[in-house]
Amino acid sequence: MKRTKIKDILANEASDYKVTVKGWVRSFRNNQFIALNDGSCMGNIQVVISLDTDESVVKNITTGASISVDGTVIASLGKGQRVEVKADTITILGTCDAEQYPLQLKNRPSLEYLREIAHLRFRTNTFGAVFRVRHTLAYAIHKFFNDRGFVYLHTPIVTASDAEGAGEMFKVTTLPFDNAPHNEDGTIDFKEDFFGRATNLTVSGQLEAELGAMAFSEVYTFGPTFRAENSNTARHLAEFWMIEPEVAFNDIYDNMDLAEDLLKYVIGYTLEHNREDLEFLAQRLVDEEKQKPMNERSDMPLMEKLEFVLNNKFERITYTEAINILLESPAYKKKKFQYDVSWGIDMQSEHERYLVEKHFKKPVIVTGYPKEIKAFYMRQNDDGKTVAAMDILAPGIGEIVGGSQREERLDKLTQRMHEMHIPAEEMYWYLDTRKFGTVPHAGFGLGFERMVLFVTGMTNIRDVIPFPRTPKNAEF
Ligand code: 4AD
Ligand code: MG
Repeated sequence: MKRTKIKDILANEASDYKVTVKGWVRSFRNNQFIALNDGSCMGNIQVVISLDTDESVVKNITTGASISVDGTVIASLGKGQRVEVKADTITILGTCDAEQYPLQLKNRPSLEYLREIAHLRFRTNTFGAVFRVRHTLAYAIHKFFNDRGFVYLHTPIVTASDAEGAGEMFKVTTLPFDNAPHNEDGTIDFKEDFFGRATNLTVSGQLEAELGAMAFSEVYTFGPTFRAENSNTARHLAEFWMIEPEVAFNDIYDNMDLAEDLLKYVIGYTLEHNREDLEFLAQRLVDEEKQKPMNERSDMPLMEKLEFVLNNKFERITYTEAINILLESPAYKKKKFQYDVSWGIDMQSEHERYLVEKHFKKPVIVTGYPKEIKAFYMRQNDDGKTVAAMDILAPGIGEIVGGSQREERLDKLTQRMHEMHIPAEEMYWYLDTRKFGTVPHAGFGLGFERMVLFVTGMTNIRDVIPFPRTPKNAEF
């Protein structure tokens, strides 16, 4: 018989029908009651086996084993479930040695421990919920853009350009490390390399997305992004996924509206479609917060936080206003910040979190950053000091979105590239857009894992991507 998903059985009002269910045993009680999970939803189906089931089968029904059950869905007599499956036949698909199975542990394993067994952690309730939510978020993002007529553009992963100019790139090469060919001046001769030039893993698809926007008007990318920054924090990955819309004819205000709409849409979509997972994660967060000192606990439970963000307009302030708020803050006056505050600084996460968590208590969009701390492509404001940049700061996360209106004026752009020592000749293809029918345009990058962190209430970015890549860690 064709397999029925556990989710469909639990969602179905009916009973007294035949099914085949397959999954992994979560627990086995009294040699009679199996809690079976197939990952289609949080819930397990209770399978009741008859007391005369063959001993050779019964002994293999252990936590972690995979089984197939033919039986009948019946109204449950026991408490805790509406329906259960009365088994006719049970087939063991794969045994599981309980002595060796890491998830057999009776106590709830810590997230740190589960990170070490990331190949098995999908099978826990927490990671089941996290990755179902991650899936829904990805789908909702595509749906948001598709519904608005954007073209999904695949930008290259191997590239010769450094969009952000931060020099945090992983090199891609086929040259032998111990015997690389050299030029006369001692530098590596990349002409002999696979691509005939130096290449790296992309830090952003933005520059290529801009080329697409100059034809389709609205495009977005959604792909893997790599940064070799050595920041071993709970918010940084060396390999993460980024969503980068780029829109012709948009200015910085349209850009803010688009980003705010996107975040609200995907939160709303997930609240609608993953209620059970989110409620589980909300409870997990409550339990986790109980372990923390009072002053470190978040003010709002997860569901309330998501509803709140959905229903309230994001605060919009300029960088200059943000700095003034920080300078006026009790935290600054009492010297609570580790890093100093003055106009021109690249705000540290303690500053960003003060603004969103203590001062505004909601997401904040900051615009008009000093040009010195932002990338070359951002549109220069008339004051000569700031650029039309925007960062969205989210409670508990800090920066979740970074973007800007782009410099569409060829002379201003080449002048800025010159000032920042960016070789204009190599970027001729980018500059061509400014020569051939340039238009005002704007875009942003949303860090996908930071979005997943925000929606799931998880606190470490390593727990929202299946197999995290971080400094000294590329297991699995
Ligand atoms: O602010 P960033 O560096 O912006 C760009 O790359 C632009 N090219 C985007 C654009 O305008 N099209 O990165 C964008 C977002 C950040 O706000 C953050 O959410 C995420 O990407 N991000 C990271 N997420 C996880 N690990 C890292 N190491 C990240 N670096 C950036
Ligand atoms: Mg940024």
